[in-house]
Amino acid sequence: MPKLLPSRDSSEDSSGDSASAWILLALAVGVFIMALIGAITRLTESGLSIMEWAPITGFLPPLSAADWQAAYSLYSQSGEFRAQPAPPSLDEFRAIFWWEWIHRQWGRLLGLALLAAAFWLWHSGRLTADRATQHARTPDKSLLWLLVVLFLLGLSQALVGWWMVASGFSDRTDVAPVRLAFHLTLALVLYALLIRAALHRAPWHRRLAKTFATLNAPRKTRLLALWRIHLALLFLLIISGALTAGSNAGFIYNTWPLMDGEFIPLDYTAPAAPSWISNTLENPSAIQFHHRWMAAAMVVLTLILSAWTYIKTQRANFASTLYILAPAIVVCIQFITGITTLLLAVPIWLGVLHQAFAIVLLTTTLSILALLSSAKNSTKNTAKNGAGKSGAGKNGAGDGNRTHDT
Ligand code: HEM
Repeated sequence: MPKLLPSRDSSEDSSGDSASAWILLALAVGVFIMALIGAITRLTESGLSIMEWAPITGFLPPLSAADWQAAYSLYSQSGEFRAQPAPPSLDEFRAIFWWEWIHRQWGRLLGLALLAAAFWLWHSGRLTADRATQHARTPDKSLLWLLVVLFLLGLSQALVGWWMVASGFSDRTDVAPVRLAFHLTLALVLYALLIRAALHRAPWHRRLAKTFATLNAPRKTRLLALWRIHLALLFLLIISGALTAGSNAGFIYNTWPLMDGEFIPLDYTAPAAPSWISNTLENPSAIQFHHRWMAAAMVVLTLILSAWTYIKTQRANFASTLYILAPAIVVCIQFITGITTLLLAVPIWLGVLHQAFAIVLLTTTLSILALLSSAKNSTKNTAKNGAGKSGAGKNGAGDGNRTHDT
């Protein structure tokens, strides 16, 4: 019977740190949920409902009828409110207010969770040398730097969020698509850093690196390079998706594969567009055209790369087979959700599902990358250990002497 998971002692490089891995994974799940709440906020047109930015006191919602009236009056000055033939009533305003409020509170909560995680990791001796001596473990310096970078990124994400929302307060009726794309990209960079760091520390993940044991070093390097290119292209596709969402391009040309009977839509170049770049970033027809065909190219690339990785590797168990085939499976599901979202002109639940699967696809790519780089590092370590075996003594992988790749 095939094994489901690698056995505990199945790899030489199965050290790691479960506790930090789970903490980082929990934070990543928090960012994932944040992105979904963000999608709901945008799709329910709630994003411009709070016209103030009060980082400290803003956690309090309106508490009295007068507070609600004041918040509503502020909103009624926005371009979005004035552009609507039937602007929302106070009751309708309350509904959209809550989504934006939850989105902001979740951001605050994530900031606090990050601080709490940093405190716990420091207290348990994982971050600094003086604490580490008390706990007899080697400090994980890269984790310390990661936490600093995450904190700065989280802070900038809050500022970018406000910069994005502020773009909708002028004459526009929506936030600027480029700012929305920037906001989503930054959130996903944060997410990717968390997942990468968690997987590199998770013992169960490190054990899976054995999947690549039969590959020689140049082949591992080549596979790693190809999956890194895949990751870069996936980020470009996600940015193009955010531009599609931000420019409301999902509400036009609701046909596939042709756009109103044409392969290239007739208004691919907007007459008023001052340059090729502004046409690419702001003309909804061009944005949608790019997104649909970049997505098709991504499907082809992912299927080829997954198949090639599958053929070249030795899969000892079901988990490693799943890791390698997951990007191919998820990209097909994502392609179908994309087309359905377009054909049905973006129902809210499908828009959110489409965003969720984009993040799942990103996770599958990050997982293969983490596996490959763990395997590459363990090859390097084995070579080093082999070379310097004389008198090296025990380089145990217990709690007190962890090894980390990041
Ligand atoms: C296969 C890989 C694909 C990926 C990774 C991807 C990714 C994304 C992302 C990240 C968004 C932004 C979601 C948001 O900000 O809420 C998006 C939006 C969108 N995508 Fe895709 N997409 C893919 C395929 C497709 C396909 C094949 C189509 C249709 C032909 C499509 C149509 C759309 C539409 C209409 C939107 C806007 C939805 C909205 O307004 O909320 N996507 N995509």
